[in-house]
Amino acid sequence: MINVLFVASEAVPFIKTGGLADVVGSLPGFLDPARYDVRVMIPKYACMDDEFRKKLKFVSHCYVSLGWRSQYVGVLETVYDGIRYYLLDNEYYFAGDKPYNRIYEDIEKFAYFSKAVLGALEKIDFKPDIIHCHDWQTGLVPVYLKCFSDRYADYSDVKTVFTIHNLKFQGRWMINAVQDITGLPDNMFTPERLESYGSANYLKGGVVYSDIVTTVSPTYVKDIMTREGGEGLDGVFRARSQSLYGIINGLDYDEYDPAKDKHIPVRYDVTSFKEGKRANKEKLQSELSLEPDLDTILLGMVSRLTDQKGFDLVNFIMEELLSHARVQFVLLGTGEDRYENSMRYFAGKYPGKISVNIGYSEDLAHRIYASADAFLMPSLFEPCGLSQLMSMRYGTLPIVRETGGLKDTVEAFNEFENTGTGFSFSNFTAHELIKTIYYSFHIYYDMRDRWNDMISRAMKMDFSWKKSAGQYEKLYESLVQK
Ligand code: ADP
Ligand code: GLC
Repeated sequence: MINVLFVASEAVPFIKTGGLADVVGSLPGFLDPARYDVRVMIPKYACMDDEFRKKLKFVSHCYVSLGWRSQYVGVLETVYDGIRYYLLDNEYYFAGDKPYNRIYEDIEKFAYFSKAVLGALEKIDFKPDIIHCHDWQTGLVPVYLKCFSDRYADYSDVKTVFTIHNLKFQGRWMINAVQDITGLPDNMFTPERLESYGSANYLKGGVVYSDIVTTVSPTYVKDIMTREGGEGLDGVFRARSQSLYGIINGLDYDEYDPAKDKHIPVRYDVTSFKEGKRANKEKLQSELSLEPDLDTILLGMVSRLTDQKGFDLVNFIMEELLSHARVQFVLLGTGEDRYENSMRYFAGKYPGKISVNIGYSEDLAHRIYASADAFLMPSLFEPCGLSQLMSMRYGTLPIVRETGGLKDTVEAFNEFENTGTGFSFSNFTAHELIKTIYYSFHIYYDMRDRWNDMISRAMKMDFSWKKSAGQYEKLYESLVQK
């Protein structure tokens, strides 16, 4: 048996702000249970759903030192879908109505969490062979293990894997303050270690101190080794290129399955998508007060409203699209005020044509994946992206920019050979985006057979965890054999 501990700041079904939670909440269940005992450690946030909070059982507690203070760590556990989750409790750090707050608060919160993880390990009956950390919030786990090797001598043979889901967020803060919180010595804040452009950088710590570093698509691996895509750390990635791997995210095909989905009014599969999608679209149009017109193309977006997701381009083309084209548009998302407000403006100006839903709803997300004809995802950068996988699974053709995981998962339509699973463009310009959208409209309105062929191909693609879980297993095996 190989024991693996996942450490992350979010996991479905307990808490989710984006794709990280989908991955951490699904991958463990797809590793071979005959060979792996995988468990997951996450914070117990006050904003977590009550339904899950009630099921938690108290295991133990301990204290960890943080700066000059000693902080309580409650260790609770629950089993969900056969996987054991440990939730670490501290009402001071994990209070509030959302998991993340201002960066200086999060810097302390996740220094605490990383220490708490190592403290909690001593209280549970599980010794990991591998600790698999995710994103900057857990970057200090491998740092602590190496830097305080005397204190953590029992774990000296533990291997570490660090997965980057989004390089944009690195957990950077003033060295003095970080040193005060973490208790790490001066010599840890050099350019070979945690220092980066004059700040302390948690993600860099994770990258430098882990045995293996992965990210969530092969193209994103290439992207982060370039100046343009490296967010200041491209040199670090080039230096670690021998231990850097890109593994595409899988999707939980049971959770996202139009033939079984409880969130959608009419279920369908690859043999019945024409009627199924139409019926869902009819219901969605009525639910969201869109004009009841089944023959107009419906574009969907389910997204965090940030610049990463291409909202600068979307803003730019929206007026032209809504005033000229035969189109309907449905958006579900939350995020930056500037995008929420501009989208509300378009909703006010073009009622019946566009439905803007500012908020978070699992339920509506599924209904949009099932009902829309095409899914818009013109990202500025995209480590992997799960939304385009979800939309293909539901027969909603993605329109994407060729970056990161979008490039690896969506094959552009070729009308001469009748191949492809979506539409794509290369340069981050409004011109290329609108041209691609209009091209997709042309196929939808004038070549419906081709469009439907493409839906079949997209729905038959296999983006389940099967292949990718096997790639993680190979990496784990290579580590424990060393
Ligand atoms: P990212 O993690 O960068 O946000 P991904 O495409 O990997 O992008 O994953 C986004 C996940 O979050 C998908 O499961 C998507 O359906 C979901 N999601 C995003 N915004 C919302 C929202 N407002 N309501 C419900 N689900 C959302
Ligand atoms: C991040 C990325 C997204 C990726 C997700 C899960 O949030 O932005 O591209 O799919 O993590 O790995």
